Amino acid sequence: MTRIFSGIKPTGNLTLGNYLGALRRWVQVDQHQADALFSVVDLHALTIEHDPARVRALSRRTAALMLAAGLDPALCTVFVQSHVDEHARLSYLLECVATDGELRRMIQYKEKSARARAAGESVRFSLLSYPVLMTADILAYRTDEVPVGEDQTQHVELTRDLAVRFNQRYGETFTVPKATAPPVAARVMDLQDPTSKMGKSHEAGAGIVYLLDDVDVVRKKIMRAVTDSGREVTYDREARPGVANLLEILAACRDGDPAVLAGAYDSYGALKKDTADAVIEVLRPLRERYAALVADPGAMDTVLREGAERARGIARPVVDAAYAAVGLVPAG
Ligand code: TYM
Repeated sequence: MTRIFSGIKPTGNLTLGNYLGALRRWVQVDQHQADALFSVVDLHALTIEHDPARVRALSRRTAALMLAAGLDPALCTVFVQSHVDEHARLSYLLECVATDGELRRMIQYKEKSARARAAGESVRFSLLSYPVLMTADILAYRTDEVPVGEDQTQHVELTRDLAVRFNQRYGETFTVPKATAPPVAARVMDLQDPTSKMGKSHEAGAGIVYLLDDVDVVRKKIMRAVTDSGREVTYDREARPGVANLLEILAACRDGDPAVLAGAYDSYGALKKDTADAVIEVLRPLRERYAALVADPGAMDTVLREGAERARGIARPVVDAAYAAVGLVPAG
């Protein structure tokens, strides 16, 4: 059976980008078709300045939102990364396979480290090694497919390279995974700046729809989205990024095609209104289930504990095999 692994890091409140680029497909497709594991990858939240209490709160909120979106513990495994030691255990071995040069070439590292330096902040070593931990997350489960948004494909490429290199050097140990992206909305853009990604770690802005935003806030943000000069509604990501973004959001919510939908509109106002309605409709059940889940934290703890047990059971023998393969003496 196909094995799927993916994760979300608790560095901010989840956005419509996380939902349409990843979570929606995990719920609608992946959990039904594969042995799928989905993780709140909390260790990844420590690569930047963070407040411990906030990381703790965001980790729980992220887990609740994953379940509220429709991940069903009867169909898939949901767990918190730090509850399973194998991720950190394997990461070190993979640091011994990765090179300094290939990690410095990662786009996210270049962007985030440049931003930190410009702000006079130090850059944590873990920001550089972060994609190696992500590689460990994936390889520890002998994952076949990694469903992610477009911004993560370079990291999954690195994962493939490291898996191949490890296998060549030390013998077949890992499955070489591939990234899968949704057919539309693999890169949801900021509504106020449609040339940059809608990101949860950015400053709260008018261009970011959060999954827990109130209905009227969602509507306001979408109605005020920056569109482009001109009046025709056409689907052209290069020439009309603002309109293209709205069309993709609408298409993703309605399981439609952005180019076909473009033909149905003759004004930006009507497109915005329908997009707002579609997003509100998609988020409504999620918000209702979220409220029920946070009212019963004990039930969520049980899901996460059982998820971690199952994840450990899969990862342990794989990581043990990797330790043996590189020449480490097995514990008696
Ligand atoms: P993270 O937490 O930034 O995002 C979680 C998922 O949401 C997708 N995503 C988007 N998709 C479309 N448009 C957007 N604007 C948008 N913003 C985010 C991301 O592509 C991702 O799929 N490094 C990962 C977390 C991670 C991981 C892993 C993922 C750690 N280990 C192993 C897969 C497998 C990250 O920072 O995602």
